[in-house]
Amino acid sequence: MQTPEATSLTSALFLRMAQVCAEVGGWLPFDRFMALALYEPGLGYYANDRPKLGRMPQAKGVGGAVVEGSDFVTAPELSPLFGQALVHQVADALHATGTREVWEFGAGTGALALQILQHTNEHHQAPDGDLIQKYTIVDLSGNLRERQQHTLREFGDRVQWVDRLPAQLQGVVLGNEVLDAMPVKLLTRRGGEWFERGVALPDGATAWVWQDRPTGLRPPVDVPGNHDYTTEIHPQAEAFLRTLADHMVRGAAFFIDYGFPEAEFFHPQRDTGTLACHHLHRMDADPLVRVGEKDITAHINFTGAALAAQDAGLDVLGYTTQARFLFNCGVGPLLDALPHDSAGVARRAMASKLVNEHEMGELFKVLALAPAGQAEGWVPLGFTAGDRTHTL
Ligand SMILES: C[S@@+](CC[C@H](N)C(=O)[O-])C[C@H]1O[C@@H](n2cnc3c(N)ncnc32)[C@H](O)[C@@H]1O
Repeated sequence: MQTPEATSLTSALFLRMAQVCAEVGGWLPFDRFMALALYEPGLGYYANDRPKLGRMPQAKGVGGAVVEGSDFVTAPELSPLFGQALVHQVADALHATGTREVWEFGAGTGALALQILQHTNEHHQAPDGDLIQKYTIVDLSGNLRERQQHTLREFGDRVQWVDRLPAQLQGVVLGNEVLDAMPVKLLTRRGGEWFERGVALPDGATAWVWQDRPTGLRPPVDVPGNHDYTTEIHPQAEAFLRTLADHMVRGAAFFIDYGFPEAEFFHPQRDTGTLACHHLHRMDADPLVRVGEKDITAHINFTGAALAAQDAGLDVLGYTTQARFLFNCGVGPLLDALPHDSAGVARRAMASKLVNEHEMGELFKVLALAPAGQAEGWVPLGFTAGDRTHTL
């Protein structure tokens, strides 16, 4: 059931989006619609106060009232072993690139930052103090920034938040499930013709409808066949990687997300694309309803991401599955070390989802990048076995 607050937020967002749609002539390309639905200040999904991330759809408060609702769970929310394994990759990259800073994009509740900052010193020190001198977070969501500040309060000034990148960025860059949250364009082929899919509001209507317009845009590879086909392209995620490349002077970047190389992404049988919405841990494919209350996301075309990064001056250091990456980073011994009591069994069950092939292990991938020519001869820890860069 919708609370009155949710209803009024949704209507305020609807009015705002309707106004923008009218201003641009009555048609919003889907990426603009998605940007407003997710990030419109104060109203969009990532800008409003809904909890969004968490393990359970609901939690009961005093007297049994539902006090919290979340929509999806990410790797660091699922198990702290994610960050505890990633710490070894971060330390390896800090040593290899001679940097002492971590930059995290889209830090959610701050769970991954907490795991990394709490566990670095257990295994990795620098002669002059903390290996990570500064941990900087960039997040579009003011609401999540508040949660991050609360989660990370024990680290004081070592953690900072910024809204824009410095002219010269140095350090290890992390982004878990951030590229998939960036707005995508929708392309649809009907009767052999390509259209860009957008949305419109018919006169007096209170619900969005799909509307397609002829376009010169195409997927980056030919999609064999003449059958009807809908897919996504990722200009914003690719622009983000180009901007990162322009600013990054030293270090390495690791992006973890669900997705495929382009041959799989634009497979002729994937004819309805990968766009998905998440609400109260249920997935659906209709972003035009409950706008502002649902996460909207699309899988990553990792070939496109790697090419955009390369064109802008980054080298691809590795590409592999999350399972391979985490095993290379030592998640196996961490799983073995969990206690055998009932709490340990429950924690192992959660952590196993990170690497199980039918859960996150195979679908999620890790892409590692570094400024061109700087990392020659270094194979980052997470890619020492099972690298799949050749599949991109
Ligand atoms: C799906 S959540 C993932 C959160 C967290 N990384 C985790 O794994 O739990 C996506 C996050 O990316 C942020 N985000 C989206 N686009 C961004 C951008 N261009 N720059 C920085 N953060 C962004 C959102 O505000 C949100 O915190």
